Amino acid sequence: MVSRFVSASHEKVNPTDVLVRPYRPEDRAGVRRVYADTAFFGEPVEAFFDDRELFADLGVSVYTDCYADYIFVADSQGEVVGYILGSPAGDADVRAHAIKSLPRVLGRLVTGHYRIGRKTLIHVGMNVWAGLGGELLEVRSAAYPANLHINLEAGYRGQGLGMALIRAYLDKLRSGGVPGVHVVTTNRNEAALQLYRRAGFQLLQEKRTRMWQRYVDGEVRLMALGLRLNETPHSLPARNGSRGKTASQF
Ligand SMILES: CC(C)(COP(=O)(O)OP(=O)(O)OC[C@H]1O[C@@H](n2cnc3c(N)ncnc32)[C@H](O)[C@@H]1OP(=O)(O)O)[C@@H](O)C(=O)NCCC(=O)NCCS
Repeated sequence: MVSRFVSASHEKVNPTDVLVRPYRPEDRAGVRRVYADTAFFGEPVEAFFDDRELFADLGVSVYTDCYADYIFVADSQGEVVGYILGSPAGDADVRAHAIKSLPRVLGRLVTGHYRIGRKTLIHVGMNVWAGLGGELLEVRSAAYPANLHINLEAGYRGQGLGMALIRAYLDKLRSGGVPGVHVVTTNRNEAALQLYRRAGFQLLQEKRTRMWQRYVDGEVRLMALGLRLNETPHSLPARNGSRGKTASQF
């Protein structure tokens, strides 16, 4: 079902009403909703996938189940409207955990729990094709072990909340002694690129991919960016004072 925040996508909210705070178990459904609402370059997953439950089970369950201490949410009056999440140990560690949950997902698949349609089959095919063609990016450098994923519902963007979430996550990584963090985005995610650059991330790798060519006009390039946490200042820019209060401010 399309969330109420998608239908309210062009209404900007007052960011002072939004709190950035650590994840709680009861946020799980909200994180999954935001994940699905923003999966297609910030738009809902239904553009290319049939079943948002399957999409969330494959992509975000591993983080809520295994790395909950590294999730921060943007909370608007009790509703999750955005998150940042990741693993301090990186993609290989995430994959190892995700593989353990595959039997459960497969069990649900064969018992008809998910809707598998044409869009899903095409997406899986495009992924395999891009993977075999060497068009996917993975950062394996020990200098940037942690990864991150960040998303905000449409009505909550462009008001400083992204930077507030980044600050919370980087502080958490630093407190655990993690030396660096990387993120993979595309040339089409302009706000994300600007956010990462403002936070001090540098381009590590860039690669053209054809996996979105069915849905997006023009070239899509995957971009991996990295930030060394032991070489960068602890304070990150805040836009127009304090946007998105952090829990510690209350
Ligand atoms: C990417 C995202 C998390 C950024 O969070 P945000 O709250 O919108 O960003 P902020 O308001 O903190 O702004 C951060 C910087 O990006 C800039 N920015 C914001 N929206 C922008 C836009 N649409 N185009 C270009 N720059 C933009 C801001 O001006 C700011 O830079 P500045 O400090 O130089 O002014 C959010 O826009 C989002 O969820 N987008 C859709 C999903 C997505 O792309 N996720 C990332 C996938 S890798």
